[in-house]
Amino acid sequence: MQGLQRLEYRGYDSAGVALVAPGMQEVAWRKKSGRLGNLEQELERHPMPEATAGIGHTRWATNGAPTDVNAHPHMSGDGHIALIHNGIIENAPQLKFNLQAEGYTFASATDTEVAAKLLGKVANEVIAQEGAPDLFKAVRRVARMLTGAFTILAVDSRQPDIVVGARHDSPLVVGLGDGENFLGSDVAAFVAYTKEALELGQDEAVCISADNVEVTDFEGNPVTEAKRFTVDWDASATEKGGWDSYMDKEIHEEPLAVSDTLLGRFSVDGDLNLDEVRIDEDVFRSIDKIVVIACGSASYAGLVAKYAIEHWVRIPVEIELAHEFRYRDPILTPRTLVVAISQSGETMDTLMALRHAREQGSRVLAICNTQGSTIPRESDAVLYTHAGPEIAVASTKAFVAQIVAAYLLGLYLAQVKGTMYRDEIRQIVDNLKAMPEKIQWVLDNQADVIAQTADRMAKAHSFLFLGRHVGYPVAMEGALKLKEIAYTFSEGFAAGELKHGPIALVDEGEPVVVIVPSPRGRDVLHNKVISSIEEVKARGAFTIAVAEVGDPDVEHYADVIFWRPECSTLLSPLTDVVPLQLFAMDMAKLKHYDIDKPRNLAKSVTVE
Ligand code: G6P
Repeated sequence: MQGLQRLEYRGYDSAGVALVAPGMQEVAWRKKSGRLGNLEQELERHPMPEATAGIGHTRWATNGAPTDVNAHPHMSGDGHIALIHNGIIENAPQLKFNLQAEGYTFASATDTEVAAKLLGKVANEVIAQEGAPDLFKAVRRVARMLTGAFTILAVDSRQPDIVVGARHDSPLVVGLGDGENFLGSDVAAFVAYTKEALELGQDEAVCISADNVEVTDFEGNPVTEAKRFTVDWDASATEKGGWDSYMDKEIHEEPLAVSDTLLGRFSVDGDLNLDEVRIDEDVFRSIDKIVVIACGSASYAGLVAKYAIEHWVRIPVEIELAHEFRYRDPILTPRTLVVAISQSGETMDTLMALRHAREQGSRVLAICNTQGSTIPRESDAVLYTHAGPEIAVASTKAFVAQIVAAYLLGLYLAQVKGTMYRDEIRQIVDNLKAMPEKIQWVLDNQADVIAQTADRMAKAHSFLFLGRHVGYPVAMEGALKLKEIAYTFSEGFAAGELKHGPIALVDEGEPVVVIVPSPRGRDVLHNKVISSIEEVKARGAFTIAVAEVGDPDVEHYADVIFWRPECSTLLSPLTDVVPLQLFAMDMAKLKHYDIDKPRNLAKSVTVE
């Protein structure tokens, strides 16, 4: 149950468990729709027997509504086997049709039950052939019959000492304990028990018992090169530690996420050192275009990177939503560096886009927050963000850490390509190192005005967010946070676009949030954004500005100001997004919404 709790951020519309122990005739199971709490109550009402092995699942519905019957685990026809599944089995309709023709009946509308019934049938065929049950062999056989994306785990009451798993395009990691072993969609599931883990590769199957782990391909050939790693954070990092919500905690961890992401990336003489990415300097030197692929918040981090990297490195940077990229025949060459940004490292859209890029001969570098996840494993190189585990569905600290990692990549490219002087790079690095303190200043000094503003705005039906240059992705991220957790219609626009359409939306009292660039040195942009505030204000808007401390102009026009300390324009997203995250959180709090688990969303979307 603890493991499921730690994985609940991946989906929380139903949950279930199945257990096996010597002497059991059938698998014991319980499942319930709704949050994990419902399953917990069910287990109190109907306790489970003692067991030696078990599986548990928390669901984000794809096939079939979130009901008790559709919840996992699903059972084989004879009740010996229970199976849980992540992903979408594309050929489930045909398999179901064939099974029905053989007399199988189905209780649920899920593709998972098809896999469970099929596994039951195949397991009995294996027994008939071999004279003894062999769940590992049966799972591999079934894995070869399924198309689509899946991780399946199964237990069999006839082999109560093992759990068997298989994965194709969906995550699965092994936790190596002492006299106990674990399987999980990510290490959070078992980190309270062991920090030693094993990455499973594509199309691999695994059989664990208390003291053994066996990995094979789907044909049964042993896999010896499965990669071991040690989780570099503690179970306590996945706990709320006194905060009201994980999101609150994670926003307050942003200064640390930034400094940890910078840590260890410089050589003794102060140069940037990205040896860990394992791409040769010559290769970096030859890069003539960068394409960033990502989804959601990660894509906005990528858009911030575009402004910085184009300015520093003078090579074009395109940013594209991963799901659009793959289907439009993008122009990629061996000199294109594709940067896949993903907190979870499991987003299926991003994974598919990176595979497509590699097929076209491009190198892929992942910016990722999760060790042992699929996207870094399938990339040529990885730059980890060290934000620590992010549990709240709406991304906050991982977003700022992604921006920092992208800056590091840009500065490193500038260093190897010689597009900037060493001193210039050092100056920016020094400015970057000062950012945690500046974020902390926002957290310490602006929380009250942000909470009061949320209070005033609680009844607003929609919000517009405006920004220019790097303020534009910040505006979009601010709007996304409000949609995700406060369920408030909000849209981020490039402020220059205002007069080309969005201004028609502005009516008396319409809240408009404006990201104002620094007044120093960038007068053109600053003045233009101030003009945007004037324009919406003239039409009755209620204006909220995010602006630099001491900006004299903004006070005349904005109704409310969230201040941030002085910093360079290119680095300002790191501070400017903070008040917007807090604002969305306060809005959700006022509405008594579940901040960490917003309706309909899942943190890592492992289906296309
Ligand atoms: C989901 C989450 C978003 C997240 C996006 C990308 O849609 O709800 O918050 O930004 O996936 O996730 P990734 O793990 O690839 O960064």
